[in-house]
Amino acid sequence: MKMLLQHIYFFLLASFFINHVYGNTCQQKNVTYGYVCVCNSTYCDTVPQVDVKEGIYQLYTTTSQMLGFSTIKGQIKSNSEGISKYKIDLTTSNPKQTVFGFGGAFTGSTGFNINGLSSRAQDNLLESYFGAGGIEYTLCRVPIGGSDFSLKKYTYDDDHVGDVDLKYFALQDEDLLFKIPYIKKANELSNNTLELFASAWSAPPWMKTNNDFAGVGFLKLEYYQTWAEYYVKFFEEYDKRGVKFWGVTTQNEPFDGFLPQLISQIPSMGFDNHQMNQWLSQHLGPTLKNSSFNDLKVMIHDDSRHTLPLLPIILENPQSMQYVHGVAVHWYADKITPSEYLDLFTKSSKKELFLLGTEACNGFLHALNLEHSVELGSWARAEKYVRNIITDFAHGAVGWVDWNMVLDESGGPCAIDNKVDAPVITNNATGEFYKQPMFYAMGHFSKFLRPKSQVLDVQDGLLKSVAVLRPDGLHAVLVFNEGQDATNVEIKSNKGVIDVEIQKHSINTILF
Ligand SMILES: *[C@@H]1O[C@H](CO)[C@@H](O)[C@H](O)[C@H]1NC(C)=O
Ligand SMILES: *[C@@H]1O[C@H](CO)[C@@H](O)[C@H](O)[C@H]1NC(C)=O
Ligand SMILES: *[C@@H]1O[C@H](CO)[C@@H](O)[C@H](O)[C@H]1NC(C)=O
Ligand SMILES: *[C@@H]1O[C@H](CO)[C@@H](O)[C@H](O)[C@H]1NC(C)=O
Ligand SMILES: *[C@@H]1O[C@H](CO)[C@@H](O)[C@H](O)[C@H]1NC(C)=O
Repeated sequence: MKMLLQHIYFFLLASFFINHVYGNTCQQKNVTYGYVCVCNSTYCDTVPQVDVKEGIYQLYTTTSQMLGFSTIKGQIKSNSEGISKYKIDLTTSNPKQTVFGFGGAFTGSTGFNINGLSSRAQDNLLESYFGAGGIEYTLCRVPIGGSDFSLKKYTYDDDHVGDVDLKYFALQDEDLLFKIPYIKKANELSNNTLELFASAWSAPPWMKTNNDFAGVGFLKLEYYQTWAEYYVKFFEEYDKRGVKFWGVTTQNEPFDGFLPQLISQIPSMGFDNHQMNQWLSQHLGPTLKNSSFNDLKVMIHDDSRHTLPLLPIILENPQSMQYVHGVAVHWYADKITPSEYLDLFTKSSKKELFLLGTEACNGFLHALNLEHSVELGSWARAEKYVRNIITDFAHGAVGWVDWNMVLDESGGPCAIDNKVDAPVITNNATGEFYKQPMFYAMGHFSKFLRPKSQVLDVQDGLLKSVAVLRPDGLHAVLVFNEGQDATNVEIKSNKGVIDVEIQKHSINTILF
């Protein structure tokens, strides 16, 4: 009897903690490729609060079999027990780059899909990405006009050929209905800490040599200045509606503008780096400097890794470089390009530049029928995110920004035949949304490796990890086990020794 009462007592105590300390747990559902957490208008899982005291560590875990952030606490010891195969030693590690942030993109398609949910479900979705109970994104990208993830191809001045003064420049429904309202809500949820950067896919067709949104096309020389002023107009119109930007990239994937439509129908505009030097140094740079947006951080490249060897053409041009702050990279060629390419620009640039991952998604080979767009519940796709972020951070990246935050079950909508995957998928028929393994992978970085954290250089043998010292004084160590076996990891720091068991196929963050 006493035993039974004790059991009931502990059961009640445990459910109290689950509800009040550990938040809402994942409503896990078995789907085609693995598991997702299901959210709707009345329920969504939250991240258990960080609550670390002296002498205690807190471990957050997401595994292929159990999504969500399950958490346990343990005691920091003074000595090693010597049982761990893997050792992470922070007592001798040197500080490296400072974290700037993590996030995703407010594409037109993302807003359209959010808009399709009930307003309570929308709140749960935005809270999941930006709120204190969510993964607290702080760095997001906004397309300037249409991208492939829009409802159609468009710019802000399509119909008035030769409008050099941009008299007819106007934001479109996608901005007013599907981007700005959600950006503002996200910013409120993040207590005004959200940093935004903008990228353009294509100029109005009449400014281009091919008079089209996609295909082999370049900016006509006579519109170089108009195209720079178009950027300022964009920032002005968003500013009028209460949206401020931190940064801008010079052109989304400029090398797409060399591809015929047979290969890519993605809205694009070609710039080789000589053309970019001319436009940046004589038009975009001076025009931004002479505007109220003169403190925007300008990022060059904004394309995949394989074309980085061409970047010295810009890096060695001081007229361009006076306007440049960072290098933006996409992940699409990472499989065929050594990660050492990420170090090239630090060698050839006289100026200190930051490196930022600005676009990535799974399922992009769907357009070539080589993979599915959405693979609902795929753990393998979450692992690709983790591996890529850890690699970029090892090469000095200060952040990593995902592509569409929200797509529908088909991986769209998409203005062309190029549907892909996203960390959150909406179910149009049930009004639910699914948080995929990729969402939790992003969350292990964005939630715990907070802005202004100092990255520490660590060697961890075969496991993969990132360790930081956060501005609140806590250490956060992310440990990724892509193996088939559970193992033990020992973390040694000036606060003592932590020994944790790391499950197979798991992402773990240890805070202390
Ligand atoms: C999930 O579904 C797959 C096939 O649909 C099945 O093989 C697996 O056992 C299921 N897992 C659980 C935990 O129900
Ligand atoms: C929402 O999800 C919760 C938890 O799974 C469930 O109890 C509730 O019935 C769902 N509500 C609706 C409206 O489907
Ligand atoms: C929901 O599905 C309908 C029918 O397929 C489609 O017309 C509509 O655009 C979809 N809405 C969203 C938000 O995806
Ligand atoms: C925003 O501020 C409120 C009030 O201080 C706080 O409760 C909440 O946790 C903060 N949200 C985030 C994302 O930090
Ligand atoms: C700077 O901007 C003002 C208007 O804001 C304009 O009159 C002036 O010509 C610009 N100067 C340059 C060098 O672009």
